Amino acid sequence: MTTLDTLPNTAPQTGSLPPAADQALPQVKPLYIGNVKVDPPILQAPMAGFTNFAYRQIVRQFGGSGLLATEMVSARSFVWLAEHEAESPERLWGVKEEARPLAVQMWDNDPDTLARVGERLANEYQVSVVDLNFGCPVKDLTEKAHSGSYLLKFPDRVGAIIERVVKACAPTPVTAKIRLGCSHASINACEIARVVEAAGAAALTVHGRVASDFFRGSADWEKISEIKQHLKHIPLIGNGDLDSAAKVVEAFRRYHVDGVMIARASLGRPWLFAQCAAALRGDPIPPEPTLDEQRDWMLRHYELVCERFGEERGTLLMRKFACNYAQGKAGARHFRGAVGNVNTRFEFLAVVANHFPKQDNPQLFQPHDAAEPCEETCG
Ligand SMILES: Cc1cc2nc3c(=O)[nH]c(=O)nc-3n(C[C@H](O)[C@H](O)[C@H](O)COP(=O)(O)O)c2cc1C
Repeated sequence: MTTLDTLPNTAPQTGSLPPAADQALPQVKPLYIGNVKVDPPILQAPMAGFTNFAYRQIVRQFGGSGLLATEMVSARSFVWLAEHEAESPERLWGVKEEARPLAVQMWDNDPDTLARVGERLANEYQVSVVDLNFGCPVKDLTEKAHSGSYLLKFPDRVGAIIERVVKACAPTPVTAKIRLGCSHASINACEIARVVEAAGAAALTVHGRVASDFFRGSADWEKISEIKQHLKHIPLIGNGDLDSAAKVVEAFRRYHVDGVMIARASLGRPWLFAQCAAALRGDPIPPEPTLDEQRDWMLRHYELVCERFGEERGTLLMRKFACNYAQGKAGARHFRGAVGNVNTRFEFLAVVANHFPKQDNPQLFQPHDAAEPCEETCG
């Protein structure tokens, strides 16, 4: 299996100059999802519980991502809320007002329910792209709701869903996000890719793991690359383990994807997209912001969360977002321990002032500071 970690690293590093002529950059063009131009072809991945309006605002301010996405929305809950004249799903916070392009992702297994919600997303919310989740491996979605990656076992069902949703959303493009298969014994991404395109989807994103892996092991980019020959017209977007500009350049150079999608690595480093975009252009890669600047971005993130949810709930929500900003830095564990107990704005600001990693206070880097998502996470 070829993963991005096993490749010789010939691509540019943070802060470095563009590569020499003999390591010419791949020719990367904007990609089109229907008539939506994704430029640069670097997509921000949907991440449940994280990629809300506040996070997306921060990503937009840095730039570098050609298409942003919401967290996945349950189509069934959306319909239920509408029938009970309740508010729209919380995960659609900010979507109507937000800049475009923006994709909203939804999940279910019922073509009619998905078509109903897709139609509202396209017409009432005027989103740029409607994305369908066929990749989530979490048991609540697969075993209980027979949705997400569970549907990869049923290519006909995947096709039926896409056909209905495409009709309901037209002319808004509909895309699909999948894993390689449900398990190593049942990898069927090439077959699913053909079904997805034949049913009228406008792009396919593939996370290069199988569902039973959750996040274990490495994404298999060779397998992602094989899918390309099964698509006639629509773009292939590769996803999995991209955490540096160098790896993004390698993904385009070696695996001939039309676009890449980045998830976990961008959570505490929303400037990563801008670094990747610069590398693809052949420009010098912007350096990591200083720790003080990173802290200030985190505080901006906090204000956006509080504006929406109020101070009490906003502070509780911010606990996990704040941990992402500290991840991988000296002292991150200590900060995590402290911020995990804050309940008020005063406490949050005090913990940030006293414990957010500082340049002049280096402690030993703990490799386990780099947290792994648990099996309850989606995707
Ligand atoms: C916390 C978390 C939440 C996620 N939520 C979603 C989601 O709502 N929809 C989805 O398609 N994938 C979801 N994913 C999967 C990511 O979009 C992505 O496919 C996966 O993390 C691999 O990319 P990466 O290696 O860049 O993180 C989630 C992943 C994480 C870590």
